[in-house]
Amino acid sequence: MSSVEQTLSIIKPDAVERNLADKIQKKFIQEKLKILKTKKIQISKEEASEFYKVHQTKPFFERLCSYLSSGPIVVMVLEGNNAIAENRRIMGATDPNNAEEGTLRKLYGISIDKNSVHGSDSVENAKKEISFFFKD
Ligand code: CMP
Repeated sequence: MSSVEQTLSIIKPDAVERNLADKIQKKFIQEKLKILKTKKIQISKEEASEFYKVHQTKPFFERLCSYLSSGPIVVMVLEGNNAIAENRRIMGATDPNNAEEGTLRKLYGISIDKNSVHGSDSVENAKKEISFFFKD
């Protein structure tokens, strides 16, 4: 069954720094995801810790928060049929080494940390993550 969903996407500092944001946004549009909202921002380490708090007990948490706050990011609300799963399919596996050919992380990811994009993993988290970045 397909249903129209919204999901949060982040283009991470490694991809923004390499001017990949336009290419990544074009890929979402080609794949029939609408970009409803987008903005380029830089967040503090405290904000990154709040955003990624589901990972706070993980050994990579500190590194993850330093990284996400290390430079500008592009945050987007994507909308489309099964947008949450679709975005995850388009991104590919978390570790670019395991990502399928043609996925964003395979094409652009440098490492498991610098994996170019983030996407919400569930309806519940998509709602939380969208309201984290887009207050209205
Ligand atoms: P993301 O989808 O943004 O969600 C959490 C991030 O933690 C993940 O992408 C990776 O960039 C990063 N990360 C670093 N090490 C790991 C790991 N061992 N397992 C999962 N995520 C990791």
